[in-house]
Amino acid sequence: MNSLTLTRPDDWHLHLRDGAMLQAVIGHTAARFRRAIVMPNLTPPVTRTEQALAYRARIVAALPADTDFEPLMTLYLTDQTSREDIEQAAGSGAVTAVKLYPAGATTNSAAGVTAIERTYAALETMAEHGIPLLVHGEVTAPDIDVFDRERVFIERVLAPLSERFKTLKIVFEHVTTRDAVEFVRAARPGIAATITPQHIRCNRNALFAGGLRPHHFCLPVLKAETHRQAVLDAATSGNPRFFLGTDSAPHSRASKESDCGCAGIYSAHAGIELYAETFEAAGQLDRLEDFASHFGADFYGLPRNTGTITLQRKPWRVPARYEINGEQLVPFMAGEDIAWTLQA
Ligand code: DOR
Ligand code: ZN
Repeated sequence: MNSLTLTRPDDWHLHLRDGAMLQAVIGHTAARFRRAIVMPNLTPPVTRTEQALAYRARIVAALPADTDFEPLMTLYLTDQTSREDIEQAAGSGAVTAVKLYPAGATTNSAAGVTAIERTYAALETMAEHGIPLLVHGEVTAPDIDVFDRERVFIERVLAPLSERFKTLKIVFEHVTTRDAVEFVRAARPGIAATITPQHIRCNRNALFAGGLRPHHFCLPVLKAETHRQAVLDAATSGNPRFFLGTDSAPHSRASKESDCGCAGIYSAHAGIELYAETFEAAGQLDRLEDFASHFGADFYGLPRNTGTITLQRKPWRVPARYEINGEQLVPFMAGEDIAWTLQA
């Protein structure tokens, strides 16, 4: 097969940032995806509906002229998020989901949730209005090994939460472990997961290949090979609980190549091609369209997209970096070849 045509896909987990970075990255996503769930971890975080509406307007203003790309906005859950905040979000029709960052878990999570009990009123209101909770599933306790944070989060937070709020839709974002995949497979209805390109392509060796590799650092961190294999199996299994979310997370080169480098891998430049290559290598290219274009929309209760994109089997070389306003952005697979090319 030398050409692959898919229903236009959606990216169910995306960081677009703001200002010059937003302007520089939005075209990559809009060229590939019809919609994307936009993460709210700006500084300051997007905690209220009016902020989400203003951010949405900035995104739309940054879009290329010839696109019908639609940003789906999220709110950033805090200890202070009230019933009224959720009701306002639901009433606006402009907020698709609410994101839980445990405080201190990752980039711009300082304002996140310090104790899950503090969010119960908000979660109950979300369940009433059918607003999904998107979860960064890692505990932050300093005594827990960084590679165990996802597994322990399931035991301590996610499993009890899904039982307490039985009608709350939950997306376990960017799953990285066998434990997470098994939890999602066996969970009650209304629980799903997104899967990134890096977590099905790389294991933790990629962090140390010939030296320290900051451009392979993201959170949750890459895991051992057995986990990569389990996540890849989930992505390519045809189970509708697993769908595409790139977690493309641009940071400047300087902020990644630093003595305390930021977490985040930029993948929007090849946001569908990376999955196509990996699904093909796994012998499951025929499962890509469900994963990328159907299962996410179905879970969110949104219409599937019409229209298609086409990929051609033709290698292209990922640039070493993108120049952005005097700064640089190093993309995933910088300087390497990707087997599938997006047809203009
Ligand atoms: O690697 C990550 N980068 N993980 C996250 O959870 C946040 C993201 C970011 O915003 O840079
Ligand atoms: Zn993210």
